[in-house]
Order: sequence, then C-alpha cells, then structure tokens
Amino acid sequence: MPNITIHGADGRRTVRQAPDGTLLLQVIGVDHLETPCGGNGRCGKCRVTVQGQVSPPSEQERQLLGDEALQNGVRLACLAAVEGDVTVFLTDSKAVQAISSEGTMPEFALDPIFEKYGAVVDIGTTTLAARLYAHDGTLLACAAAPNPQRVYGADVISRIEKSLAGKRETLAQCICGGLDELLHQMEQEAAISPEDVDTVILTGNTAMLYLFTHRDVDCLSHAPFIADELFGRWADPEELTLTAAPAARIYLPRCMSAFVGADITCALVASQICEKPDSALLADIGTNGELALWHDGRLLCCSTAAGPVFEGATISQGMQASKGAIDRVTWHDGQVCCHTIGDAPAVGICGSGIIDAAAVLCEQEIIDETGAFADEEDAYSLTQEVALTQKDVRMLQLAKSAICAGMLTLLGVENIDVAELPRLIIAGGFGSFLNLHSAARMGLYPPELESHASAIGNAALVGAAMLLLRGEYLTQSVALAEMSETIDLSSNPIFMDNYVECMSF
Ligand code: FES
Repeated sequence: MPNITIHGADGRRTVRQAPDGTLLLQVIGVDHLETPCGGNGRCGKCRVTVQGQVSPPSEQERQLLGDEALQNGVRLACLAAVEGDVTVFLTDSKAVQAISSEGTMPEFALDPIFEKYGAVVDIGTTTLAARLYAHDGTLLACAAAPNPQRVYGADVISRIEKSLAGKRETLAQCICGGLDELLHQMEQEAAISPEDVDTVILTGNTAMLYLFTHRDVDCLSHAPFIADELFGRWADPEELTLTAAPAARIYLPRCMSAFVGADITCALVASQICEKPDSALLADIGTNGELALWHDGRLLCCSTAAGPVFEGATISQGMQASKGAIDRVTWHDGQVCCHTIGDAPAVGICGSGIIDAAAVLCEQEIIDETGAFADEEDAYSLTQEVALTQKDVRMLQLAKSAICAGMLTLLGVENIDVAELPRLIIAGGFGSFLNLHSAARMGLYPPELESHASAIGNAALVGAAMLLLRGEYLTQSVALAEMSETIDLSSNPIFMDNYVECMSF
C-alpha cells in the first residue's frame, strides 16, 4: 500500500498508508485543512503541495488553481487522489498571514495574569511578532512586522553602537512606534479598545529590552559583558508607555545574561524541556542564535552571532516569510522546484527556502563541500526571478557554522556524545516551515540528531503568551533564568575548533 508522508505546518512529519484512489483529504483529515465547501471541489481552499504519485488534475482543479500553482506542485486535497507514494506539505493559512507569530503551544490549565485583554510581543532584532488574547484564552489576533530599528543596523552590535553614539532616545522611540502599530493592528482586527488591554508582555534579547527601556547599553558593549539589569519585572510607567495600550501594565521577562535574553527564557517555558528528566537542546534561531542545554538538572546557555541570514537579511534576494517568498525548495525530475508562500509569483527567498536551497544544491553537487559552485558560476537561478549567489552561500556557511558549533560546544562542555542526545528542538520565526532534513543536510545542526529533532516555531512568543495565560509560568521563567549558566563562546577553544569544522557542507 502506498506511503503518504505528511509534513505538517508545525514542522512535524507523519507517515500514513492508504490504498490507491484515496483522496488526500481523507488521508490528511479535515482538522488540518481549510474546507469551507466541505470537500466538494468548489472553494479552492484545501491547498497542499504534493510530490509523488497523485492523480492528474481535473479541469475543475485546473480552473481553481491555475497553471502556475499546479506547476509548483500545489493540489487540492479534496480532488487529488493517491496513486503511489506521495509527500504532502501542509500550509497553515493563518501561518501565511503571520508566519513569524506562529508556534506550537502545549496544553495547560489557564490562570491568566490579566483581567480583560492581554498582549505579548516578541521583539526580535529583525522581526516583531505579536499576539492578542481574551481572558478566556481565545487568541483574538496575531501580527508580525519588520523591526523598525533595522534602519540603525541589521544586528544587535550596530544598534548598541548607534545608541552609544547619541541615538538612545531615537532607537527607543523607533521601537515603541513599531510596537504601537502592531498592537493597534491587532486591536482593530479584534474590534477592541486600546484602553481595554490591561497587560502586555514584551520579550526579546537583552539588548532589545535595554534599547526600548531607554537604558544605557554601555555595559553590553565591552568585556566582561555583564548586564547591569536582567529584568524579570514590571516596567515603570516613566520607563515605557504604549499609546496602543495606555492603561496596561507591562512585564519584561527575565534575561539570563548580557547576550542570552528573555526570548530564550520564554522559549524554554514553551519548549517545556526543563520539565522532563531527559537531556534536551533548544536552539532559538533568529538574528542571534541562542542555545540552551538541559542536562542532569543543569541549564547551560549561550549565544552565537549567526547574523540575520535565516530571517532573509544579508542574502541578496532574501526576504521575510511573507507572500511570494520561496519557502521550500526541492529537486524533481532533474530540476529545482520552488514553492512560494501564498502560491504567489516568487519575489525572494526566506529562511526555510534558503536552508532547503542549500541542502538541494549540495545533494545535487551544484555546490561542493567547501561551499563553492561546482561550475564556478557566481550564482544559481532558483526561478527566473530569484537566484542564490556565491556570496549568499558564504553568508549561510558563517551562520550555520556558528549555530552548529554552538550546539557542539554546549554538548562538549557536558561531555554528551552527540548521537546520545535524546531531543533537539529548533525554534524561530521560520520554525513551522523548516524542513528538518534540509537543516541537517546543510549542517545547521549535527546530522546525527535528525531523527530526534522537532521544530516548534516562534517559541519566544509562545512562551511569552504562556506567561500571560498562566501566572505559574511567569514564576517559572524567573527561576529558569536564575538557575541558568551562560557559556561564553568567544573564549571557548572547543567552539573555535568546531566553528571552522562546521563551515563545510
Ligand atoms: S475543500 Fe473546497 S475545494 Fe477542496
């Protein structure tokens, strides 16, 4: 009987079996797809991306999808039938609208710390992502936008330099404006008044929290890099106010150290790795790669300067995960195949697409193990409009090497054999679209961990939401940050050795 491999929007992979002739909708189930017409082939909403043996598209399906979507492997699950082994990729439409705010939340009993409405924002160096909740735990709206501070530098270091060069207030106003816009957007969508939002949690890396609370970032700019404030407290009204939530009290979760921020604290809460006895590694991949290893009751953390490659920045045609971004790349019938978000014409490539592209080009030996294009060209065209350049590949090598070497260093400090680690959890704005096989193939993490790896999306945002929805998690977040030990990679010889070694594909 044919195997149907289903890649869920949350990054999970399941394999099912079904006889020839079974509709994909029957295999996948209605819970995982939009089916407003009830599976009658009229609405065109039950879109999935398919590789493998399925029935040819009928005229009805052609009309609903159009030729371009069909060429990209898009099919309607209620019309396409199994005719052999098939791989199906699910795309959550909500994730398409606000991919950066998507993430897997575990089940738990509600005990909200807010009265009427509460909001959370993950202030990423590159991207802001937010959610708005009602007191009964209903998710009313989510939103995402580029961090407006990006004009002051792509990474944390350049923004710290700008702040020290006299732009402290400008940077704070800039981010507060961005937060207000995002909150207003969600309030309008949920049709609620800004005055009714009574609690807001703002998480982010340590520098981001410093920058929007107008703090002097001098202590973050030089050795020994000791933060004079680690938060884990309610903000003073004079320190921070938001016009989009004028009556709200604002909580700033606890950071771990100068370069391991409140975002990884929240991600740890969401991942729940510290609630289990088994060892586990959590990698939160954003502009900074922040890593946490839970082992034998110890919590080791570190930060690696991955750069914003995986958020689409510093790549020549890179973009955030929004409509028209190539988010998946595969090799089919001797040629590269690209899927775009929203099945729109390709306008650029986002993090998950970049990882896929690197993996595919390596597997096809278009890129050699040193990262050079085998035919000595300067670029490889993924579509007519989008290409990956040699410089892009070099940026990618630096980023993936920093993250993988950081993982190996934490494991080395605890003398854990890589193959023995029971769990690897990858978090980040691209989490749900991340192809774990591609990530292992191109060396984002040690390939031995592929069968133990899972992706959970924006865990920093989900964790912040958990702090909002259950007071116990807020207490837990402070305890986790307090018990954590930060490993300084810049002076760690294991890291330097691994960094060089992890550079190749
Ligand atoms: S559910 Fe409407 S077209 Fe498939």
